[in-house]
Amino acid sequence: MKIDPNIKDLPLTKSKPTTLESIFGKSDLIPFWVADMEFQIASPIQKALINRIDEGSFGYEYKPDSFYKAQKEWYHKRYGIALEKEQVLYSPSITTSITMLIENYSNKGDGILIQPPVFTEFRTLIKKVKRRIVKNPLKLQDNKYQFDFEDLEKKAQLAHTKILLICNPHNPVGKVWCKEDLGRIVAIAKANDLLLISDEIHKDITLFDTHFTSVLHFADQYDKIAVCTSEAKTFNLCGIVDSMLIIPNDELRHFMRLFFSKYNLGRTNALSRVALEAAYSCGESWLAELLPALEKNVRSIAQELKNTPIGLVEPEGTFQVWLDFRKIFKDSNQMFRYITETSGIGLNAGHWFGHEGALFMRMNIATTNEKVVYAIQRIKEAVSTFSE
Ligand SMILES: Cc1ncc(COP(=O)(O)O)c(C=O)c1O
Repeated sequence: MKIDPNIKDLPLTKSKPTTLESIFGKSDLIPFWVADMEFQIASPIQKALINRIDEGSFGYEYKPDSFYKAQKEWYHKRYGIALEKEQVLYSPSITTSITMLIENYSNKGDGILIQPPVFTEFRTLIKKVKRRIVKNPLKLQDNKYQFDFEDLEKKAQLAHTKILLICNPHNPVGKVWCKEDLGRIVAIAKANDLLLISDEIHKDITLFDTHFTSVLHFADQYDKIAVCTSEAKTFNLCGIVDSMLIIPNDELRHFMRLFFSKYNLGRTNALSRVALEAAYSCGESWLAELLPALEKNVRSIAQELKNTPIGLVEPEGTFQVWLDFRKIFKDSNQMFRYITETSGIGLNAGHWFGHEGALFMRMNIATTNEKVVYAIQRIKEAVSTFSE
């Protein structure tokens, strides 16, 4: 995979000095935190964007049949899902869609079930719309994360619980939920008449022969479901693409469509349309190169961490690793400050994903193997000098 040679000069959030200063207390850090990639995008996507810009005209645009055809084929080939264009709404971001779903399918004070440690924005957006966070923390057993189904069943039955929001693959711990687990999740949602929202933004990034299953596979058993996804993570297009909200149930979708139209959401962005269409039709070989590069980075990290007190929860998906510092530190803030200051590497503190993530750190591995090895060696060295 080719690294983007201009990465240092781009105005990227992950390296914005004032952001680094406010979060990490210093700006001279090597960023391994925000989940975007340092790889150059697939050349067919880049060429398609350049060609579209060369056309020199940007009137109001619609998605042509070629777009839907490419999207349908992608879903069918990779996931065996027959995606109909009518089932998809377009929204500026996944977090926009989740917030709107929550606002429409629950009332203030209602409970939204989540599985921390999980994508920080879940908590933030639930609080913003004044709903209640109902926690069903993941269990870590034999270094693998699992759903706590017993706890989930109890919390799903609470009178105020209205929505079950899952993340698959699960950011930040890199777990890809298997078909059996998802079947149980769907059954619990059905038994309690909950709206099941599945955030599947990381669906295409599965590692070490792990297979991704969408909750869309269960739509014939229970269709009070909404899938939020995009190709932003897969193809390093976080700064460019829209996201998709897939709703198999006609009534539910019709209702959301009205809500989207109220805010005039879902208009076609020409560059986003072109990037997505090129990704669906020609991005496969780039992705086929990406996945082994990520696997190699995971293996290198595992190798570097052998015989050290730092643990690694090997990811099944996503381009992040979840590092375990529980044997070294007792206080999560102290861990974050010490590792940041001593290593010069900017990682996400695990407790940002909920206190269940305390004493872990998330590291982005979507860059060169050399850079990943350099960073993990700095982290190892930093930890080796720590004493209470
Ligand atoms: C699970 C998950 N959902 C959503 C997002 C962000 O999506 P968007 O920018 O479309 O809101 C991220 C970004 O890291 C994520 O990890």
